[in-house]
Amino acid sequence: MKENIQQLIKRLEMQPHPEGGYYKETYRSTGVIEPHHLPAQIQGERNFSTCIYFMLTSENFSSFHELKQDEIWHFYDGSPIDFHMITPVVEHIHQVIGTDFEKSQVPQFIIPGGSCFAAKVIERDSYSLIGCTVSPGFSFEDFKLKTRAELKAEFPHHKEIIEQFTRG
Ligand code: GUN
Repeated sequence: MKENIQQLIKRLEMQPHPEGGYYKETYRSTGVIEPHHLPAQIQGERNFSTCIYFMLTSENFSSFHELKQDEIWHFYDGSPIDFHMITPVVEHIHQVIGTDFEKSQVPQFIIPGGSCFAAKVIERDSYSLIGCTVSPGFSFEDFKLKTRAELKAEFPHHKEIIEQFTRG
């Protein structure tokens, strides 16, 4: 990994994320949503909202995973991102997240709760720095890394991207 990328990880105090890449939580609201106001699939209380810096590097990728709540990605810096989402309703969505608007890149992307999504940095020897906001606030209880086998069983016609964006 290039030295400037290592320095950025250090400067923004990011740590490795289980899906791949690095993150640092930058906001967790003090306000809390009581369990009886949350949907049945979420157990316990949650903060109103949370936000992280999230960074992928060219050596790494974000493997297919799922969140119970909607997540919003905000592009900040570096290479555009190759983003993939598969859901039972819309099947496969591919979007490049970045700021080359002439090429139909978008600086913001909404991921509906319950979708499986994965991403990688497009450029070599580079990184992509984004922000990820969720509401209700993030808990690892609402986060699930998907295995290659379970995704192939659920989406047999998306074998290629499943193999590309899972680690096993
Ligand atoms: N905090 C720790 N991991 C995550 C994540 O994957 N998304 C969001 N929004 N917050 C997190």
